[in-house]
Amino acid sequence: MIKAQNLCHSFAGRRVLDGVSFQVQKGEIFGLLGPSGAGKTTLIKILTGQLSQDSGTASLLGRDSRKLSSHERRQIGAMMDCLGLYERLSIYSNLSFYADILHVPHRKINDILQGIGLYEDRKKPVSKLSKGMKNRLSLARALMNDAPVLFLDEPTAGLDPATTRKIHCTLNKQRELGCTLLLTTHNMFEAQSLCDRVALLYQGRIIDMGNPSDICRKYNHLNKLKITLTDGRDILLENGSASALPVKEYLERNMVASIHSTEPTLETVFIELTGKELGEYE
Ligand SMILES: Nc1ncnc2c1ncn2[C@@H]1O[C@H](COP(=O)(O)OP(=O)(O)O)[C@@H](O)[C@H]1O
Ligand SMILES: [Mg+2]
Repeated sequence: MIKAQNLCHSFAGRRVLDGVSFQVQKGEIFGLLGPSGAGKTTLIKILTGQLSQDSGTASLLGRDSRKLSSHERRQIGAMMDCLGLYERLSIYSNLSFYADILHVPHRKINDILQGIGLYEDRKKPVSKLSKGMKNRLSLARALMNDAPVLFLDEPTAGLDPATTRKIHCTLNKQRELGCTLLLTTHNMFEAQSLCDRVALLYQGRIIDMGNPSDICRKYNHLNKLKITLTDGRDILLENGSASALPVKEYLERNMVASIHSTEPTLETVFIELTGKELGEYE
């Protein structure tokens, strides 16, 4: 459904995408996980034909992203930011405006608003909405034309956990309906819980890609045993046979308050590969 092949792009002589390749299959939720400045938004813009790459190919539904017809453009739903919402119009009026442009029947608006928890507020002007409500309205707009492919740029950035859950629930429903989703995030919990596959993007390059649990398992050498002793000290040991003896000794001397293994997360994998945290700006 979505294909990037060796995509490169520079802004003012600075490389922001450096040979990015991946494919997204039908019905997948694919995540681009990376810190601010990694190139996520640029990648979405190229894949949706809003920006022309310097080299490489981007294709959507088997067509070059730069040559999409207006019919093909209608197969895409995109949530880029809250731009394009009319501040003085109500939630409902904003969506009915898009419904007219997209030739979508108005009855669809209420269904979408109910699904996303905005129905009660449908008469409020956009200027009175919280960030979370605006985000959900942008998502509602992206869902208006039942597009088989959705691009969502940081759909839950800065939202509270309850709103994030609502959005995740809506996205899972879209996948169940056969929709293909590409989303960007710098939140590893989001990537881990929502995405079938993720690409870790750093300085315009994919540094690893795969199912989130498989990626973490691959880096299991980062898995340590963390022992908290009764005197409050924390001890980190290899999670392997070499640690059998010291653990036995701590146990025999009744010095152990707790033992945990530290399974790698996407965040620890990211730090291992880049030396940087996902939340840091590059
Ligand atoms: N229109 C632009 N002109 C110049 N530089 C840009 C432009 N858009 C993005 N950049 C730069 O390209 C890099 C990648 O940006 P972006 O794709 O927005 O990253 P992300 O979405 O991962 O935060 C950043 O260093 C950003 O400053
Ligand atoms: Mg961005």
